[in-house]
Amino acid sequence: MTDALLVDTDTDTDTESADARRTAAATWWRQAAVYQIYPRSFADADGDGLGDLPGIRSRVDYLAGLGIDAIWLSPFYPSALADGGYDVADYRDVDPRLGTLEDFDELIAALHERGIRVIVDIVPNHTSDLHEWFQEALAAGRGSAARDRYVFREGKGASGEEPPTDWESVFGGPAWERVEDGQWYFHNFATEQPDLNWDHPEVRADFLKTLRFWSDRGVDGFRIDVAHMLTKDLTEPLPTRAELERMPQDGTHPLLDRDDVHEVYAEWRRVFEEYDPPRTAVAEAWVSSPERRAKYASAEGLGQAFNFDLLEADFDADEFRTVITDNLAQAAETGSSTTWVLSNHDVTRHATRYGLSPLAGRPVKQGTEWVAAGGPEADIDRDQGLRRARAATLLLLGLPGSTYLYQGEELGLQEVAAITAEQRQDPAFFRGGEYDGLGRDGCRVPLPWSADRPAFGFGGAVAHLPQPAWFAQYAVDVEAADPTSTLSLYREALRLRRLLQTEERLEWIETGRADVIRFVRPNGWQVVTNFGTEPFPLEAEHDAVVLGALQAGAVPGESTVWIAPVGLLG
Ligand code: GLC
Repeated sequence: MTDALLVDTDTDTDTESADARRTAAATWWRQAAVYQIYPRSFADADGDGLGDLPGIRSRVDYLAGLGIDAIWLSPFYPSALADGGYDVADYRDVDPRLGTLEDFDELIAALHERGIRVIVDIVPNHTSDLHEWFQEALAAGRGSAARDRYVFREGKGASGEEPPTDWESVFGGPAWERVEDGQWYFHNFATEQPDLNWDHPEVRADFLKTLRFWSDRGVDGFRIDVAHMLTKDLTEPLPTRAELERMPQDGTHPLLDRDDVHEVYAEWRRVFEEYDPPRTAVAEAWVSSPERRAKYASAEGLGQAFNFDLLEADFDADEFRTVITDNLAQAAETGSSTTWVLSNHDVTRHATRYGLSPLAGRPVKQGTEWVAAGGPEADIDRDQGLRRARAATLLLLGLPGSTYLYQGEELGLQEVAAITAEQRQDPAFFRGGEYDGLGRDGCRVPLPWSADRPAFGFGGAVAHLPQPAWFAQYAVDVEAADPTSTLSLYREALRLRRLLQTEERLEWIETGRADVIRFVRPNGWQVVTNFGTEPFPLEAEHDAVVLGALQAGAVPGESTVWIAPVGLLG
């Protein structure tokens, strides 16, 4: 199947340029700026408090004006929202509260018309407990073929009243749930997210159908949720939790990052290649080493994998330099391009993280302690957080590879800590597991579009998570009118990035300062980030500063500048 060209209307018949265009269309993802939309919190067209697809459609001009290459839509499928939509009841439909398949088609057409590609989220490790397969499994009873699509086991104890193992789910609490007839099913995440059995041919076939379903509708790529968890070795006797924790994650672990998961992705790759241009994919794979991650990024597999190293790094020159060097080396080895991420729907927003005291190796996710303490103002320097966030983003946007931006970060939006227990939705909050703190609702609060409108212009009178009064200062209409705002900075950076983009390499330039990093791309585009507070004087002779500003010839503390030969800007 061949797609109409997105933006290129050139009718040149010269084969060489046609080839070049085909290659460009097939490799668009390598250095793309991808904007993640959490649909239920982006824009609400019908005013029911929940964002929807027509809401996104109404903001296509905004997305085009931002200058991104693609959007990634977090799940918009039918879901009871036990895990923010990552509990999917039907993989090939739209949640009626968010719209219809026709709305989806209209949205994708509107985005394609503006040259914006579309990535959708695939959640293959588990379904919702409301999925027809799971309902069928419950009704069909023990030993049935329907139960075999999931992981059902008998319990331990005289009458099977004990779970089969003492394993814990990622969100906390037991990983097994008992059903009415006494059997237990396994769930890595919330109780409402039963894990699928990836040894079952119907499970495999159904996901191929889903990939084709969305590809046929024009979707350009897929983000694969917990891509490292699908396949399992559940040969009896099952290990205990303590044994499980001691097992190496080298491809043989019973539950995580098993080598055999790549058979699944090799099959998916064949589906992606049925399309022209081939569909792309990016793996969310929390694995033990960059080498293990590389397998997901291989051209025979998903093609690209998220690198989350910067989610766990402090705002620190050394940490950034190491992460950048390691990941570029890794990408070069696999032939993939690397990905850069500072924020997403699972972590504390980076403008907030960077205003907190450094983590310095503490084994917690950055920001969770502060959120858990109710977000005390005394412990945060919000101006510093924003300054650093802007500096880090400009650094990222100058790096080789693709950058994934999360909705609201272009406004410099801060995490919302003040959400009462009654208002919270995240199962991580209620179960209190690995995502410690207060869960992830604070980065999923609906966006402020207009300072003076109800629900800050989100849609109707209300928003499904509470927006604090201070959201007004981050509203799109306020920032759009201010040339010094974070929104203006993102727009300018993304515009320049397109003009300056070049081969996927960099060379470090020695700065003589431990807190300043500087690199140059093959065409002379330079990025200088000052992580410290002392200004960093630039040499007297240098190319033009095209983004960011010098003060008295120096790069101010906690800021980034881009320098480029003027000719590059055309
Ligand atoms: C991924 C998603 C997260 C979700 C989990 C279970 O980590 O990013 O939001 O809760 O998978 O599907």
